[in-house]
Amino acid sequence: MEIRTLKADLNLMDEKEYESTMRKAGNIIKNGGIVAFPTETVYGLGADAFNEEAVKKIFIAKGRPSDNPLIIHVADMDLEKVCKNIPQKAYELMKRFWPGPLTIILEKTAEVPYVTTASLDTVGIRMPETQCARDFIKASGGYIAAPSANISGRPSPTSYETCIRDLDGKCDMIIGKDNSRVGLESTIIDMTTEVPVLLRPGAITVEMLNEVLGEIRYRTKVSSQDEIPKAPGMKYRHYSPDADVTIVKGDRKSLRKFFENTEKDKDVLYIYIDPDCIRKESNLIIFRDIEEASSRIFETFRWADDKGYKKIMLSGTSEKGLGLAFMNRVMKAAGGKELELK
Ligand code: TXA
Ligand code: MG
Repeated sequence: MEIRTLKADLNLMDEKEYESTMRKAGNIIKNGGIVAFPTETVYGLGADAFNEEAVKKIFIAKGRPSDNPLIIHVADMDLEKVCKNIPQKAYELMKRFWPGPLTIILEKTAEVPYVTTASLDTVGIRMPETQCARDFIKASGGYIAAPSANISGRPSPTSYETCIRDLDGKCDMIIGKDNSRVGLESTIIDMTTEVPVLLRPGAITVEMLNEVLGEIRYRTKVSSQDEIPKAPGMKYRHYSPDADVTIVKGDRKSLRKFFENTEKDKDVLYIYIDPDCIRKESNLIIFRDIEEASSRIFETFRWADDKGYKKIMLSGTSEKGLGLAFMNRVMKAAGGKELELK
């Protein structure tokens, strides 16, 4: 069913218009509607976390399987309504990394409906860094359940334009601002287990988590078959462009040779990460560093589909720091397909 979608580009507004937009968005949420909004990771599609009917609308709009739980987004530390038995270490994580790209899995309260958590007794909570996201959450009553604002199976949207393309006619309002700074979904850490478990790598890196938590558990090898049962959503095919993606692996020298000096197939899109690469070709995209690659990879996948590329050869990178999250997403997009350079 088509619905009329209000669109609000915050970049075009003065303070007064901004405030009235936030009020309008807040009222839509309080009346059981759904609103897409920017965050530093990716754009989200939000509903009142306590309103079952509204939360159901999100699953319908995205075509999302109902056994894939949503993250509750908050704007302040009033957490008693949504979670209980918060371990001391979880508070330390919040103090250090909130607002920011970290989702913490905690025990849910009875008030949080099972539609929101997909029948789990735990709930993911995150305080986004983007100011307008927090203003929107506050205007909406404080608890926004939101997955990424893409149609299920597509890469997460990291721009207002992409959000409109996926959700125009499917939600009540789309709030736009800048492109998402991080470009990859938040890190998810499960704090309900004895040893914390990393369920999804992101911009809050394993190294950063280790500083607060000491040892954590996580998988280094990620493939679509090799999933952690506790993150139910992870079993679904994610982040996939229509083009067939191959991850090219090798040392710096062989990667450089492959992306800079090898004859290119004009039907293939090449994506390379190197600050020193000066080669220019219409089908070669160069990112300076892992931060830039992460912030632009999802939009690049969508662009490749628009251009009709059937194949993408993408440079692998070290799994240190943000590299772990980047490789996690692109390996999923590639369905685990790699080319190992000798
Ligand atoms: O950066 C982000 O996290 C973005 C923005 C909008 O905040 N949101 C996002 O939501 O990526 P989504 O729904 O696309 O991904 C949420 C992931 C899913 O894989 C889901 O399985 C997991 O979080 N998750 C949510 N609640 C969980 C829980 N209680 N236990 C385990 N995993 C959970
Ligand atoms: Mg998602």
